[in-house]
Amino acid sequence: MKTLRHAGAVLLLLAAIAVGVIYSGLYNVAADRPDPPLIRRLLHSIMERSVEVRAAAVVVPKDLDDPLRIDTGAEHYAEMCVGCHLAPGVGTSELREGLNPRPPRLAGVVAGMDPKELFWIIKHGVRMTAMPAWGLSHGDQSLWDMVAFIRHLPTMTPARYRELTARPAAPEPPPTHGHGRIP
Ligand code: HEC
Repeated sequence: MKTLRHAGAVLLLLAAIAVGVIYSGLYNVAADRPDPPLIRRLLHSIMERSVEVRAAAVVVPKDLDDPLRIDTGAEHYAEMCVGCHLAPGVGTSELREGLNPRPPRLAGVVAGMDPKELFWIIKHGVRMTAMPAWGLSHGDQSLWDMVAFIRHLPTMTPARYRELTARPAAPEPPPTHGHGRIP
């Protein structure tokens, strides 16, 4: 009984400290301060294990290396990912510089990763980081196209990246086009 009372008192004290720390504003949420290395490693391990466990049930399509997939994936990548994850020949971006955790340069990390895990991360995103859940706006086929493309990033030359992502120039707007003016 006495031990129970002691345990209760300790819990109350811990709760009071937690409330005190939160309300004092002591914890700095600024993104331009690096996390302590231990916290960073801990959060990264939580993320890795969470993805590993959930990605195990994903079924990889047989045509993952189809050139058409890689081509379509390149288009998506240039539109939605390069600002954060860079690409061959793309050195840095203002967006990426300001993020914490800083998005990894995918060309340097995907080599050892399982396609199932790549798919899961792209589909569901990673909460509390800037990595969006692309599955809310894209079907599985498009997500696999992106997986197909990023798997080739480690060996891709800047010239090949430019070639894959070059799109025909958008047509000129009609000459009468105004900017919000009433004609
Ligand atoms: C606004 C920034 C942002 C955009 C845009 C973005 N990501 Fe990410 N992404 C992140 C961040 C931040 C992480 C790291 C998450 C972490 O540390 O847990 C990440 C992680 C990843 C990872 C896991 C890498 C690893 O080392 O485990 C993959 C794969 C990935 N993103 C793919 C993509 C693809 C494909 C797109 C485009 C469809 C994309 N991301 C768009 C910010 C972004």
